[in-house]
Amino acid sequence: MSTEKAQLASAHVTTVRVNASDTVSIETDALVIGIHATPQGPQAAAGAAGVDQALGGRLAATLTAMGFAGKPEEIAKFPTFGAIPAPLVVAVGLGAPPADGGSLELETLRRAAGSAARALAGTASAAVALPATTAEEVEAVAIGSLLGAYVFSRYQTNGQQKAPLAEVELVTSAPEAESAVRRAATLADSVTLVRDLVNTPPSDLWPARFAEIAEEIGGKNGLTVEVLDEIALKENGYGGIVGVGQGSSRPPRLVRVAYSHPQAAKTLAFVGKGITFDSGGLSLKPSASMDWMKSDMGGAAAVLGALLAVSRLGLHVNAVGYLCLAENMPSGTAQRPSDVLHTYSGKTVEVLDTDAEGRLVLIDGIARAAEDSPDLIVDVATLTGAQIVALGWRTAGVMTNDDDLRGAVVEMAGAQGESVWGMPLPGELRKGLDSQVADIANLHPERWGGMLAAGVFLREFVPDGVDWAHIDMAGPAFNKGEPYGYTPKGGTGAITRTLVAIAERYAG
Ligand code: BES
Ligand code: MN
Ligand code: ZN
Repeated sequence: MSTEKAQLASAHVTTVRVNASDTVSIETDALVIGIHATPQGPQAAAGAAGVDQALGGRLAATLTAMGFAGKPEEIAKFPTFGAIPAPLVVAVGLGAPPADGGSLELETLRRAAGSAARALAGTASAAVALPATTAEEVEAVAIGSLLGAYVFSRYQTNGQQKAPLAEVELVTSAPEAESAVRRAATLADSVTLVRDLVNTPPSDLWPARFAEIAEEIGGKNGLTVEVLDEIALKENGYGGIVGVGQGSSRPPRLVRVAYSHPQAAKTLAFVGKGITFDSGGLSLKPSASMDWMKSDMGGAAAVLGALLAVSRLGLHVNAVGYLCLAENMPSGTAQRPSDVLHTYSGKTVEVLDTDAEGRLVLIDGIARAAEDSPDLIVDVATLTGAQIVALGWRTAGVMTNDDDLRGAVVEMAGAQGESVWGMPLPGELRKGLDSQVADIANLHPERWGGMLAAGVFLREFVPDGVDWAHIDMAGPAFNKGEPYGYTPKGGTGAITRTLVAIAERYAG
């Protein structure tokens, strides 16, 4: 029996281990079982039969009496009155049973496990007996449990928040369950890191601090980390990052995080937008919900988290991450609308709107990444409000210079339960980016299709012949609504697992 710990969680850690013994004999604080919704009412999923028996066959009737149907993520808790060692049963809905011979969607399992883990905050231990008979299903239940247990309470001194569920025993006799749980813990560690970074207030997370964290984490996990400070950025011509960062008393950084493997055949570059706070700069944002802009470094966080997982999984690929870090602030030293920047690519950019800053830092990162001769560049950014208008809170947009790649990213993300949708880069939008004075302007005169215009702008900085994907996750990076499945309020860690999946694909 092995115990896997989410090692990078801030205050509390959740452990998951495999337990192949009989469900009803496990000593634990709560037993989690899955329930399907059927036209005849709630029906015990595989793994719950023992509980039903121990309860004298009254499980379905009890749930029906409680008004529980078994819809996805529905939760019911009831006491066992000594019928089994666990004093509490937590029933979680799984929706319709899979068709004969079919299996449940992995995302259904992740979300069910996550909902149960959330409902068990404040509880010390739980045994999770959701139906998981393959290694993939075990991984889904494990990662759902770990991510659902996430709590960010570092700044709460009066114990308002319940402690996360501490110990999970995953009840399964699936083959290779142990390694599936290890993999889940590795991925969950990375997503936890990303959520922590996004949730950390900008008072405690500024570019140089973010760079230090990357050095600390990278150093411990086999990554080579190089940091360019504001002086090096200026000397080396990173006009985009310097321009965006110059209004802040906390200067910008470009961090390069590199992983390599001797058996690697391919090289990947990930570029993340890392605006530790986006006030808009002199093109100041309205104050309503400006607080949300602490999440504007979610792309850089996802890149760091992904590199960490790639290294810990020992993937046979070379991967380089660029964290484009700056704080976008208005001040006497801030860049002005109409300023012209000399960017790392050699191209000049007229800054018509200082709030369109993400694309300015990204183009320096993309141009630098191209020097690594990557087989693919993926940039990840909370880039435009227009992404949210087009696709809503939970679906990121992916734009690429290659049709097959766009479909592949959508599919890889979907397999992780991350919703990403392919969007076009219409050529006619390029004209609107023409500048009177420079090679290109950072703002399109029309609001419509703003996510696409930002993508068209970025495309101008991708060298010919390099595969490139741009993921706009303005909405998905931060959950302003209620928690659901394994997604908490606040930082979500979105796209981290998609980047790891891309790296796995390129590792062959
Ligand atoms: N960081 C914002 C985009 C954003 C908005 C992310 C809402 C998450 C939630 C970005 O820097 C920005 O301000 N974009 C502008 C671009 C515009 C000036 C062309 C926007 O979307 O309004
Ligand atoms: Mn902005
Ligand atoms: Zn921004």
